[in-house]
Amino acid sequence: MKRLLLLTALVTFGCGSSEDDAQSTCGTGTLCIAFPADFNGFVKWTSTPGTSDVVADPGVVHAGGPRTVYINKKPAAGAKEFPVGTVIVKEIHTSDDVSQRKVFAMVKRGGNYNASGAVNWEWFELVRFVDGSATIKWRGVGPPSGEAYGGDKNGGCNTCHGAAKANDYVLTKGLSL
Ligand code: HEC
Repeated sequence: MKRLLLLTALVTFGCGSSEDDAQSTCGTGTLCIAFPADFNGFVKWTSTPGTSDVVADPGVVHAGGPRTVYINKKPAAGAKEFPVGTVIVKEIHTSDDVSQRKVFAMVKRGGNYNASGAVNWEWFELVRFVDGSATIKWRGVGPPSGEAYGGDKNGGCNTCHGAAKANDYVLTKGLSL
């Protein structure tokens, strides 16, 4: 009886939390279509302060407070671009309540995605939970129309980041290739 209960528990709960992992194509080849699980635990990744020499005025939303930029895996030394599967998350420390903080991300998706902008990168806004997991608020080649983006007149993501084309569209000083 005990064994049966255990088995039922495994079947019921065992796969639930890894469902997103199963759908993710990241880390398996030349395409990375990210799922919420790909952002899990980002607060424990390698991090660097959010600062840039390229764009002096990071706009209303980005500059809302001190910023931390996290990366799931730094590229190899001498790399000319960030490999497919690279996930970079930027958290703006606007509030002590972590669930209220603005969190943005960019994922190297590949497949010539976002061809007329930051080529191969997909943009995200995340909602972050206290336990370090996150969920996706929106994703795409930029914020959805109607998304006020904090009233920032330079609303699109590709504009400012285009200034860092030579660094594969990544602006943060600590992530120079
Ligand atoms: C007004 C200019 C501007 C716009 C618009 C902008 N960014 Fe940024 N972003 C920056 C700057 C500058 C940095 C470098 C770190 C810092 O100063 O905070 C940065 C850093 C980032 C980073 C960390 C990786 C990196 O490139 O350094 C992510 C992720 C990011 N931005 C996401 C977004 C998303 C998503 C959007 C669109 C919703 C967006 N950004 C729009 C200026 C901008």
